[in-house]
Amino acid sequence: MSSKAESWGSRMGLILAMAGNAVGLGNFLRFPVQAIQNGGGAFMIPYLVCFLLMGIPLLWVEWATGRFGGRFGNHSTPFILHELDPKRSVWKYIGVFGIFTNIAVAAYYCYLESWTLSYVWHSIQGTFLGQSAEQVAGFFGAYVGLDSPIEPIGFWLVCLVLNTWILSRGLSGGVEKVAKIGMPLLLIFGAFLAFKGVTLKSGEEGAIFDGLVGLNFLWTPDLSTIWSAKIWLAAAGQIFFTLSVGMGSIQCYASYVKKKDDIALNAMSAGWMNEFVEVVLGSSILIPIAIGYLGVDQVVELTKNGGLGLGFKTLPYLFTQWGPLLAAMAGVAWFGLLFFAGITSSLAMGTPVMAFLQDEFGWKRGPSAWMFGLVILVLGLPTVLYFNEGVFDEYDYWAGTVSLVVFALVEVILFAWVFGMEKGWNEINDGADIRIPRVYRFIIKYVTPVILGAVFFGSLPEIYSKLTSPVNGYVAAARFLLLGLFLGISLLVYKAYKKRLLFTKQKA
Ligand code: ALA
Repeated sequence: MSSKAESWGSRMGLILAMAGNAVGLGNFLRFPVQAIQNGGGAFMIPYLVCFLLMGIPLLWVEWATGRFGGRFGNHSTPFILHELDPKRSVWKYIGVFGIFTNIAVAAYYCYLESWTLSYVWHSIQGTFLGQSAEQVAGFFGAYVGLDSPIEPIGFWLVCLVLNTWILSRGLSGGVEKVAKIGMPLLLIFGAFLAFKGVTLKSGEEGAIFDGLVGLNFLWTPDLSTIWSAKIWLAAAGQIFFTLSVGMGSIQCYASYVKKKDDIALNAMSAGWMNEFVEVVLGSSILIPIAIGYLGVDQVVELTKNGGLGLGFKTLPYLFTQWGPLLAAMAGVAWFGLLFFAGITSSLAMGTPVMAFLQDEFGWKRGPSAWMFGLVILVLGLPTVLYFNEGVFDEYDYWAGTVSLVVFALVEVILFAWVFGMEKGWNEINDGADIRIPRVYRFIIKYVTPVILGAVFFGSLPEIYSKLTSPVNGYVAAARFLLLGLFLGISLLVYKAYKKRLLFTKQKA
């Protein structure tokens, strides 16, 4: 029951693919907006604490469980979790989250990814040159409002087919190659824009403030709001989303790592690379440029309606202040880096789904990739057609926020308390190329579950209020769709388990 043909081509390829999995649209769009909405410097302390006490431990736990599951031919979370405690059948249904989340997030994420392709095209064409701020913002409104549906739907389909085709080429032949090209390009584009951002000078190129004003806003620690639950929840949520923990994709990638190969250092390399991209590059582009032109107050105001506005409505206009050539270069760099960030993450969302079909139902790589594409097409369509009705945000809330926390909480308890910390610690350290500080044994067992529990219970009032507030018919239908998806995957897991039992019986 394994997809034997799959493996990573090289260690560098694995690290870049894992880093690509983590580095995503969240690093450049979600992070700056979360930071601005939660008070800049006030956000950074909880954010860094959550990274050290929750993000890093979860990375080790997920890499270790993935490699452990892979040893038994399991590459998706239902049966990876099952392998940790085969006597209880509940774990494989918890593992359903690790497929559900990837499908549901990919369903809206691919649409977002397709906007970046379209904006690269418009940057090259010079569409935004000479337009007013309102016109550039209006362009985005018309785009997602499907005023001329052919272009948004066309780019979305191109993006879907591209993802699916790359996935059908396999890990080393597809995913790894894209990471090896996309990640360096992303860093080059990011370095160019970050340089422009931090060297922005008030009075030059139409800027009102220095770029450093934005950086100061982000990096001046603010201890007065350090105990605000809202800020801690936002920081924890960002750590989940940005590292792609609690999703099931890290376990899947790690399940193709060989038994004796290092995971301790690899996990750190990928995790810190993500943090470098998020905290250094992610905070040196959107925030300094936007604040340089608009000032802190207006930028705070602009982020109130969500994060996409700044990246798609405001930046393309601000780039035009730099003259036609630099505007085109900045547009290609910004939307190009978003595209590479996005696609290396959406590819990671496809692999657990394919692995499940390959492991459990004996599907070949190609058909399982195209099946993933088809499911994303069907589930993604409502986010395209009813974006303005809130369907996109609804998917993001349940799959991109709530599911991650629930899954990570249960997974860390299973690993530390059921599988056992003794075995778990050996698993993490097996083949390790670094010595992990022993204090992490204590952190994984006690601190991470407590933080996760606090995040989960802290989120309950919001979940309750979401569920009890009136919603429009589209949002209600989206919820049913997501619920149906979860139940459908659970049914497939049940069937797969029965199949496995039959197979074992026949062998005996
Ligand atoms: N980790 C991915 C991101 O940050 C999902 O967008």
